[in-house]
Amino acid sequence: MSKVVFAGLATMSLLAMAAVSPSPSALPKAEMDKMVDACATCHGTNGEGLEARSAPRLAGLSKDYISRQLANFASGKRGTDTGDIYGSQMVAISKTLKPDDIDAVAAYYAGLSASAPHPVVPGDVGQGKLLYESCAACHGEDGMGIAELGAPRLAGQADWYVLHSLKLYKSNSRGAGDTYGQQMVAAMQVVPDEKAMRDVTAYLATLSER
Ligand code: HEC
Ligand code: HEC
Repeated sequence: MSKVVFAGLATMSLLAMAAVSPSPSALPKAEMDKMVDACATCHGTNGEGLEARSAPRLAGLSKDYISRQLANFASGKRGTDTGDIYGSQMVAISKTLKPDDIDAVAAYYAGLSASAPHPVVPGDVGQGKLLYESCAACHGEDGMGIAELGAPRLAGQADWYVLHSLKLYKSNSRGAGDTYGQQMVAAMQVVPDEKAMRDVTAYLATLSER
């Protein structure tokens, strides 16, 4: 357990370092601004996420995770299942991005911070905490993610998006096509139904307050 906590802390300090010294963008400023303006129409001006657009928070996710998701959308590993109606929007957008664009935009959002969105998903926090014990091995006790495992930060993510994502993994509409996502499909075995998904989501929302 302490090893997991340590890994989580190490990840946090790495993120903190990344925030202090973001790698300079390889793209000309005008190009970068244009791209980020496009993302902002759905993901919000500071990458905080917009529920009205079903678009999650990007601020503070790791550069590696953001890059990988953009590549997954572009290659059709994510967002192409008929059950994944929101992901399909990202498929079209990702296909317009060149490798340099992905690199720059992922670094940009990884370096931003945003306050946690207001929770909207009710659930039993106590039950959720128990369930989260099975998640912590990969996402960290503090929900900050574990880079080495490819497991993203969940603390501070919008709860409606977390719930939506869990439903997608549970119904095999996300994750089946790639090795990282498959781990999530497997992890959902301990989350039997929508009530359990809501409980663990409600617990995660309490982590974002720290
Ligand atoms: C038309 C709206 C729209 C635009 C524009 C848009 N996105 Fe998205 N994006 C979404 C939605 C909706 C999702 C959630 C997909 C899902 O539910 O799986 C998403 C998901 C993502 C994810 C996955 C996040 C995660 O936690 O797994 C990343 C990364 C992302 N978008 C990056 C970008 C970037 C970078 C841009 C600009 C180049 C962009 N998006 C532009 C709507 C949009
Ligand atoms: C074996 C490691 C592992 C376990 C256990 C695990 N996860 Fe994950 N999780 C991952 C990985 C890896 C990803 C990234 C998958 C991808 O690229 O699509 C992920 C992605 C997610 C996402 C999507 C985040 C986003 O931004 O789109 C959510 C939500 C999530 N996990 C919640 C949970 C919950 C809740 C549990 C416990 C019930 C859990 N995970 C257990 C490894 C794990």
